[in-house]
Amino acid sequence: MGITSDQTSPMAAAELVGDPYGSYARLREEGPVQRITGLDGLPAWLVTRYADVRQVLADPRLALDKSHARPGNYRGLALPAALDANLLNMDAPDHTRVRRLVSQAFTPRRIEQLREPVQRIADELLDAVAPLGRADLITAYAAPLPITVICDLLGVPPEDRRDFRAWTDVLIAPDPARPEAAKAAVVAMVEFFALLITRKRTEPADDLLSALVAVRDHDDRLTEDELTSLAFLILFAGYENTVHLIGNAVLALFDHPDQLAALRAEPALIGAAIEEFARYDGPAPLAIRRFPVEALTIGGVTVLLVLASANRDPQQFADPDRLDLSRQETGHLALGHGIHYCLGAPLARLETEIALATLLRRFPALALDVPRDELRHRPSLRARGLLALPVRY
Ligand code: HEM
Repeated sequence: MGITSDQTSPMAAAELVGDPYGSYARLREEGPVQRITGLDGLPAWLVTRYADVRQVLADPRLALDKSHARPGNYRGLALPAALDANLLNMDAPDHTRVRRLVSQAFTPRRIEQLREPVQRIADELLDAVAPLGRADLITAYAAPLPITVICDLLGVPPEDRRDFRAWTDVLIAPDPARPEAAKAAVVAMVEFFALLITRKRTEPADDLLSALVAVRDHDDRLTEDELTSLAFLILFAGYENTVHLIGNAVLALFDHPDQLAALRAEPALIGAAIEEFARYDGPAPLAIRRFPVEALTIGGVTVLLVLASANRDPQQFADPDRLDLSRQETGHLALGHGIHYCLGAPLARLETEIALATLLRRFPALALDVPRDELRHRPSLRARGLLALPVRY
């Protein structure tokens, strides 16, 4: 597919937030590429069909480095170099070099070694809420589980852990009315990572951040900005999406009692179920914005690849709006595709598997604790997740 359309869709981003799956179904029918006005008021081009999204995800003519944005056409959050020199702003060859330095830590075999500690964290969290009989599953379980796992892996000492979710909210949905809050959060994040890295320099430990500091200091294969940016990306990419995959999966099961019963009857379905939860209602509806650098008629504009739409494309998935844990079609794009394919995919799968299996095993009477229509999603195009998920058990 060439991105050549100049079709103007009346669709505004706000409409997509209100009814994402219905809107994407309409856009897929209308044409391969549509121009929309983003929430920031700037134009962007949406790609919504499975075959196109998959192809463009792996097309090197679409760059992630934002220096390729046409001036005035892109207004991302202005992050300092100490956070911005990360994999999701990089193209080959820098991307290749940095990703190679860290990919060893995330192989399926290395991640499988975390099974026991992750299981322990899940059990401790459920022990704490079990006597209460009801809880908000997001704050009590879905959020603290991946945050604890990623902090342990990176080597963030318990006393240094902050309210990372407040920082994440600023990154995902900065409040335009309070620019000073976003600025303050960015300053706090830079300071946090600088201090953490200084600490690893003086007191190296058996953790991922100490290993990356050693790569930087002894082998000179990473700049200081790349080091802090990598720590930043791993911490934030490492938990936010997992929180919402767990929450969205539990809600999908409440909405499909037959599938919940099937999973309870056959717990070995869990591996396939995780893939279906990611396809059906993944937490990252959009890939990172990309900028065409050559041979595309609209070079320099912002291109948004809609993973959530590709994953509901009936050309690829039969009856796509149905959750079907025994679905045969594979190849969902919820974790991306190509050189930026999610580095943490094995960890995301392990955590979600343990979180859901443990929850269902320990709480046989798990049920929603508020009327279904009271649940609210985050008002964001880029992050799909529940603000709260009250349950009783
Ligand atoms: C359910 C959980 C997760 C989802 C849905 C998810 C989704 C994604 C997607 C779609 C991308 C590709 C973005 C693009 O090409 O535009 C990506 C990249 C990435 N993810 Fe994840 N992710 C998840 C969990 C994790 C975890 C646990 C980590 C832990 C380290 C992680 C680290 C990363 C990193 C570092 C990248 C950038 C890779 C690169 O540019 O080479 N993610 N993720």
